[in-house]
Formats: sequence, structure tokens, C-alpha cells
Amino acid sequence: MTEHTLDKFNREDANGELQNSLRPAQMGEFVGQEKIKERLEVMIQSAKMRGEALEHILLSGPPGLGKTTLAHILARTMGVQLRITSGPTLEKAGDLAGLLTGLEENDVLFIDEIHRLNKTIEEYLYPAMEDFRIDIVIDQGPSARSVCLNLPRFTLVGATTRPGMLSSPLRSRFGIMNRLEYYHADALTRIVLRSAGLLNIGSMDPEAAREIARRARGTPRIANNLLKWVRDYALVKNDGQATRAAADQALTMLEIDQHGLDEMDKRILETLIVKFQGGPVGLHSLAVAVGEEAGTLEEVHEPYLIMQGYLSRTQQGRVALPLAYEKLGLSTARPQQLL
Ligand SMILES: Nc1ncnc2c1ncn2[C@@H]1O[C@H](COP(=O)(O)OP(=O)(O)OP(=O)(O)O)[C@@H](O)[C@H]1O
Ligand SMILES: [Mg+2]
Repeated sequence: MTEHTLDKFNREDANGELQNSLRPAQMGEFVGQEKIKERLEVMIQSAKMRGEALEHILLSGPPGLGKTTLAHILARTMGVQLRITSGPTLEKAGDLAGLLTGLEENDVLFIDEIHRLNKTIEEYLYPAMEDFRIDIVIDQGPSARSVCLNLPRFTLVGATTRPGMLSSPLRSRFGIMNRLEYYHADALTRIVLRSAGLLNIGSMDPEAAREIARRARGTPRIANNLLKWVRDYALVKNDGQATRAAADQALTMLEIDQHGLDEMDKRILETLIVKFQGGPVGLHSLAVAVGEEAGTLEEVHEPYLIMQGYLSRTQQGRVALPLAYEKLGLSTARPQQLL
């Protein structure tokens, strides 16, 4: 993830250790996403039976839903090493060649933000993915020549928050595409209770866990971050008792409303309705008006607002839906319609 695609509750925890200790290490601990888990388990079992590497896998979906976690689980379950890199870090063909030639048989190479790979690198990747070979140019000038290196069979796991930005040649080289969905409150409640156990929060009321889950925008990373905040709040303001009421007060203090919308979500809807008469308005104009980067708006905020039925994307631009008016207590009638 780049800085601009993270909001304040979605940031990879500065305390990486803590966040990592909450990261499920095995498929059995990975809550929800049943369809994807089932598919991956078939692939894992088959690869093990064949004694070969897993097919390449693409994981897509909004930030914080478990893409990186799944990559770790895949490598661990296959009993192979996981090598991690990301689209923007791979600048030169040599970087990629170095990584690929350092892999061992069946290893997993994880490329995060794979939609941000540059074109040249992408083209080097095609033969590596398909034929497990890479052509590199050595020397310069008249003595320059191309050498073909054979690679071990490896599995490429790509993660992206923007599957639409992937070139179609790259997309088509992945055997299976897995789109992670926002989590239901039940699954998130289980995640919160599991994390509370790992963080030794003994006095976690299941109702408080449910309250956190309902207001975590369907996202495990946000749920874990909110859980830590509720723990802090309960410790300081409620004798360490994480009751439902304490959770509610803690979340309200962060201006996270009953439906999990935060300040920025509300600002987006209000701007759309008040400044742009409900739209349609282009992404960039909306981004400027709310003071947020267009990329963050598109990747972090919009998917949830769309899923919840507050906003829709049309050919002409973003449009506020009736639920958004209702939420802000505004009338759906536009001024000109009133005349
Ligand atoms: N299914 C799950 N069950 C339990 N915890 C989960 C699950 N998915 C994610 N988490 C928790 O959420 C955190 C964030 O997940 P992860 O880092 O895998 O997200 P991501 O999809 O890679 O996000 P990004 O796009 O920002 O890189 C993990 O550290 C883990 O604690
Ligand atoms: Mg990740």
C-alpha cells in the first residue's frame, strides 16, 4: 500500500509486531471469505498431490481485507519460502531477474500492488510466469547480448486494490482470480473476539465485539485497530471493562457513526449532495472538493459507500443515492425541482 491509499484507521499498524501477531497463520484461522478459501484449498491439495508448485494466483479487493495474509498462509501451507516485493519497488529488469533467479523450486513470489508494475518489468514477467524463463541482456554496446535463464517453477501471487488497472495480458496469465469481499458483521465479530484473545483483553463483552464489527467498514484491519482503541478507552474511562456502552462511546469519540461511516465518508456524501447537487460529478472534482487524493477516494472510501448503497458510479460521474440524503437528513428534492 502506498501512503495515499491509507486512511487513518486503515494504516498498517506502526507497531508491526502487534499487527503481525493478529495475522492468522493458517487457513483454519482465516475467518470468512469462504468461497476463496475453498478454491485455494483445492489448489493447495492438488499441487501437493502433484508435487508441483501452485498455479499463479491473483488476489484483489479493498485494503485490509486479507490479501497479504493469504499470501503468507499459502506459502506456509505449501511449506515453501515467501519472497515479498511490490510493483513500485521493482524499478529495473535487473531487480526482477535477481529476485526470480534467487527463488527455489515451488517458492511463492508475492508482488503487492501489482497494478503498479511498470510496462518493461511486466513484459519480463510474462515468459517467467508462462515458461519459467527470463531473457536478460548482459553487457552494453556492441557486445550486448541476450541470455535466456531457466527459472525454478514458482508461484506468483499478485495482490491489487485496483484489478481494473491491470493490463489484460497480465491478468490473463493468472490461472485464478480471487476477489475478496467486505466481511459480514458475523465474521468480523469472530475476528474481533479472536484478536481480543490474542491481545489478552480478558473483559471483552461479546456485545462490544459485535458493536466494533458493525462499525468497522467490513474490514478486518479496521476492526483490529478499533478494537485496540476500545481497549484503551475502556482501560482509561471504564475500569478496563470493554462493555458495549464503552465500545459505543469510544467509537463515537472517533466520530465513527452507527453505520461505520467515518468523518471522510460523511464529508464525501455531504459535498456530493450540497456542493454538487447530488451529482453526477467527476472523481477529480469531488476529490479536490473534499481535500483527499483521487486514488484514496476511489480505492478506500468509494467501494464501501457503493456497497452500502450510498453512492453510485455512472458514466457521467459519482451520484448520491437516496440513502445518502436520508443519512444526512437532507431532502432528495433538488433545488431546481422545487421551482
Ligand atoms: N480473514 C481474516 N481473519 C482474521 N484476521 C484477518 C483476516 N483478514 C485480515 N485480517 C487481519 O487484518 C490485517 C490486515 O490484513 P492484510 O494485511 O492481509 O490486508 P491486505 O488485503 O493485504 O491490505 P492492503 O491492500 O492494505 O495491503 C491482518 O494483519 C490481520 O490481522
Ligand atoms: Mg497487503
